[in-house]
Amino acid sequence: MNTPPTEPYSYQMLIDGQWVEAQSGERYDRNSPAHGVTVGTYPKAGSEDVDKAVAAARKAFDEGPWPMMQAAKRAKIIHRVSEIIREDASELAYLETLESGKPISQAKGEMEGTAELWEYAATLTRHNYGDSYNTLGEGMLGLILREPIGVVGMITPWNFPLLIISQKLPFALAAGCTAVIKPSELTPATTLRLGRILQEAGVPDGVVNIVTGFGQPAGARIAEHHDVDMISFTGSTGVGKHIVAASQGNLKKVSLELGGKNPQIVFADADLEAALDAVVFGAYFNMGECCNAGSRLLVQTAIADQFVEEALERVKSVPVGDPLDENTKVGAIINQAQYEKILHHVQSGQDEGATLATGGSAMRTDEGRFIEPAIFTGVKPEMEIAKSEIFGPVLSIMEFDTPEDAIRIANSTLYGLSAGVWTSNVDQAFKVARGVRAGTIWINTYMDGFPELPFGGYKESGLGRELGRFTLDEFTELKTVQLHLGPRTSWWHKPEE
Ligand code: NAI
Ligand code: MG
Repeated sequence: MNTPPTEPYSYQMLIDGQWVEAQSGERYDRNSPAHGVTVGTYPKAGSEDVDKAVAAARKAFDEGPWPMMQAAKRAKIIHRVSEIIREDASELAYLETLESGKPISQAKGEMEGTAELWEYAATLTRHNYGDSYNTLGEGMLGLILREPIGVVGMITPWNFPLLIISQKLPFALAAGCTAVIKPSELTPATTLRLGRILQEAGVPDGVVNIVTGFGQPAGARIAEHHDVDMISFTGSTGVGKHIVAASQGNLKKVSLELGGKNPQIVFADADLEAALDAVVFGAYFNMGECCNAGSRLLVQTAIADQFVEEALERVKSVPVGDPLDENTKVGAIINQAQYEKILHHVQSGQDEGATLATGGSAMRTDEGRFIEPAIFTGVKPEMEIAKSEIFGPVLSIMEFDTPEDAIRIANSTLYGLSAGVWTSNVDQAFKVARGVRAGTIWINTYMDGFPELPFGGYKESGLGRELGRFTLDEFTELKTVQLHLGPRTSWWHKPEE
């Protein structure tokens, strides 16, 4: 499977266990960003389709059996999903690459990562418990029950389609929630395939519903819907703010994973070979279309010239091209809007006076949308290319002298998702780790992730956390139950006549 399909795949949406068309009958096409041909056709959901999906999720939650099903049984089903994902990994990776433009070797790795998320969530299912107080006096017992929050709307982006839904759904299911999912209109294939896997694994009808369509009206309808108890969203900070506004109507809970402008901070005493590799990986992995992209490099002045020179050498040799080729490391840009946005940032960096030291041009334009990995030097923290999330293969390099400088520059954007620090000095590493306001700090490594470890953002990078055992808290409500024991002490005795 190293060529696109000769005929596009044709998909339907999953509502209440049925594979259906949009009520309007409308459909839309998705083209491969690397090959230009249509690879998938989809129903285009309207508000009425979302309403049906929400009603199904509501009924599955309110009437069961899913939320009250014995956790051991739910755990088995969630675990079974992880097994089927492994069995279907090559097909899933192929579908993911066709729509996302990401390198196939990377997509295969993501399928294993996805299976691990389901596997881990299965183990949490049986560790979802509350608390009790036997200390409230003889006549009282206090119970704290942890209950699933209800119907969760999940709206996901196009950069890691199956991985990102799997940072949400298995945990929500472990907690006993039901769901309405809207994958990105650009990359719905693997989320719909997941729908089939869920059915095969034994998830009851209506527990997971998947609608395909655009932010308007489908995404917005989920966000405003009064029968949705929580929204879990990953995408742009701009749309995240719309979701918060839309949540007002019924004060639903909102969890957001948004953008980043993440710094890698390299001190002179670091293992520079390792740091170089991680800087190039961090900036260009997934074409830089990654909330965790290490899109800023802060390098200590003493080593800056040499480090930058070596980074340039490496970047020039990164294989860019057909994502279905096993050797490709940087594939195609997701759509025309993103492509133009990246090229616009490259131009604005030059206009602001930074030096475009390599890359930044469109390439292989007869095949698809490809951009040469770019490096800007001479970047100042106040420049747009130092502050805005570009979401493309563009690295902005700045220099610093002291750890205090590095922390100040690192914190000088509105984002706070993640950061990397490279040094052999533990004190220095921790000074930076404590000083940088970000949800994840990597020391002498970059962009590793584990299902056990919470992930999310400070500042405008998000709200709440995903992954880890704490994520169950996000998908649950606490209910206090007080039980009185023995005779009641009267509030008021009628006086004797
Ligand atoms: P987006 O935020 O518009 O799309 C994410 C999801 O939200 C999609 O499913 C989309 O259909 C949905 N959506 C859009 N408008 C909506 C609305 N009003 N209500 C509810 N749902 C809505 O992201 P987009 O336009 O694809 O990318 C634009 C920029 O966002 C990128 O250049 C990048 O900077 C950032 N981004 C960040 C991501 C992350 O992982 N943090 C992922 C994708 C994009
Ligand atoms: Mg958008």
